[in-house]
Amino acid sequence: MRVGILTGGGDCPGLNTVIRGLVLAGVKRHGYDFVGFRDGWKGLIENLTLSLKPEDVRPLYDVGGTMLGTSRTNPLSDPALIERIKGNLVANKIDVLVAIGGDDTLGVATALAAMGVSAIGIPKTIDNDLSATDTTFGFDTAVAIATEAVDRLHTTARSHHRVLVAEVMGRHAGWIALHTGIAAGADYTMLPEKETDLAELCQAVNREFGPQRKNYAIVVVSEGAVLAQQSDMATQDESRDAFGHVKLGGIGKQVSKAIAAETGHETRDVLLGHIQRGGPPTANDRVLATRYGIFAAEMINAGQFGHMAALQGNEIVAVPLANATDETKIVGEQWFPILDIVNS
Ligand code: F6P
Repeated sequence: MRVGILTGGGDCPGLNTVIRGLVLAGVKRHGYDFVGFRDGWKGLIENLTLSLKPEDVRPLYDVGGTMLGTSRTNPLSDPALIERIKGNLVANKIDVLVAIGGDDTLGVATALAAMGVSAIGIPKTIDNDLSATDTTFGFDTAVAIATEAVDRLHTTARSHHRVLVAEVMGRHAGWIALHTGIAAGADYTMLPEKETDLAELCQAVNREFGPQRKNYAIVVVSEGAVLAQQSDMATQDESRDAFGHVKLGGIGKQVSKAIAAETGHETRDVLLGHIQRGGPPTANDRVLATRYGIFAAEMINAGQFGHMAALQGNEIVAVPLANATDETKIVGEQWFPILDIVNS
């Protein structure tokens, strides 16, 4: 059995750990051969391959990024690209393709599976916004990095009696902001799922200034969050990637300026950006990623094509690929009472 692997979309701590688990289990338990395709779907379109042996992947348990490289190439934009992918799968004698990615990458895998390609998915995103799985690897690391950063903002904000606004990733799903805000003791946390009223936000900030108060404030804001007074999410420019996504960013600065104007407190904003995606995965993500990789080898053995490995409770199970990309898993309303307590 010859297995192709690719990683697509934004990189994520734990990708190498998944590849490691999959290759080690596939070779040792089942005697599979592995071929890596470089830079996501681009590698399958352009036939950019890399041999993957156990000795190549064994040292990568803690190495961030992806040894295969990644891209946001979208082969569904042109039927000719799909034909090239099919041709290169045949040319490389690939029996099964494992796509490790988020909704865009898995959306392509779902389409290929519907065309008869034996495809298996492994969910990846720091945003934790894929349905059908409780958690994706990389999320724990992103929250740990953001929490440590906000912990550090507390001491500088305290020294200067400032309001510090930290913008974290999470396009339409505020999981990173929610967890970071709670874990790092933010005075107010803004999510894409819940419009923020500027007066309420400023009230929370003002609450922290005055006699017997700590005289600084911390605000955590998800990149996709909006103020009730705004109509659109903040974007860096007008451009869109191959899947039609705009580059989000800038809400932290807008919020910081609005707070300064309304309250008169000195404010600063920090954009955590890609720091949240870089570097080694946490121990939890290493374990989760290893389990996903090993489970995918068993899915291949069981012929569970058109499916994705998913964490449900403490079990990894196979779910139809289409379920993963059906809808974005956003922060549900059951979290709002918790948020209200920590925001008030
Ligand atoms: O998909 C994860 C994510 O980190 C989003 O939260 C963010 O908006 C996006 O990727 C940015 O990715 P890039 O700058 O690599 O296009």
